[in-house]
Amino acid sequence: MADPERPGAQRWLPGSGGVSALRDAADSCRGCELWRDATQTVFSSGPAHAAIVLVGEQPGDREDQTGQPFVGPAGGVLDDAIVAAGLDRGDLYLTNAVKHFRHRREGKRRIHETPTVGQILACHPWLQAELDIVRPRVVVCLGATAARAVLGRPTPVSANRGRAIEAPPEVAGRVVVTTHPSALLRLRGKPGWDAAFDAFVADLQTAAALAHG
Ligand code: URA
Ligand code: SF4
Repeated sequence: MADPERPGAQRWLPGSGGVSALRDAADSCRGCELWRDATQTVFSSGPAHAAIVLVGEQPGDREDQTGQPFVGPAGGVLDDAIVAAGLDRGDLYLTNAVKHFRHRREGKRRIHETPTVGQILACHPWLQAELDIVRPRVVVCLGATAARAVLGRPTPVSANRGRAIEAPPEVAGRVVVTTHPSALLRLRGKPGWDAAFDAFVADLQTAAALAHG
């Protein structure tokens, strides 16, 4: 039975240590049911004292196989936007709201499914522990799931993107909401692509200006 006093991932958290202690502990998390159908926990990448943290939704198919965040097609778009914004991926701490790949099977294919609010909440202790250690100046939420996780309230992207958002006290830095790179990926080769990519880059630049200003 889940302990109502320590919901979700809470009871897997290590008592002390840095990001690597969190990563090791998260390998065996059973805080919700998503570990069952996934290959492995996908934790984070990047320096533990990054000025900017980027939070995605959850690992995708490639991430699930490799154990690294943002190494699949959405990660490719994110890489391009990071470069276009004049940033260096190596300086950024990348993580996800949910650390296991939620999907359904269709034949041999594994189809992404958006995590539920219950799963976002169950996994939130990991994200909070990461933010407590990294203490970034800015947290960038890539899409509505990340925004829900970081801000603790439903936060539509279009009405909130690209500016500093009031964050709850447990998030020490500023928060910027932007689109998810998977949403951009769906526009590639279509008329809206250039504007959507440029808007994403501009949001990353806004985050960088807040972090370094
Ligand atoms: N999409 C995400 O939100 N996170 C990843 O790590 C990869 C794709
Ligand atoms: Fe634990 Fe998060 Fe994985 Fe659920 S998704 S099992 S809470 S690490």
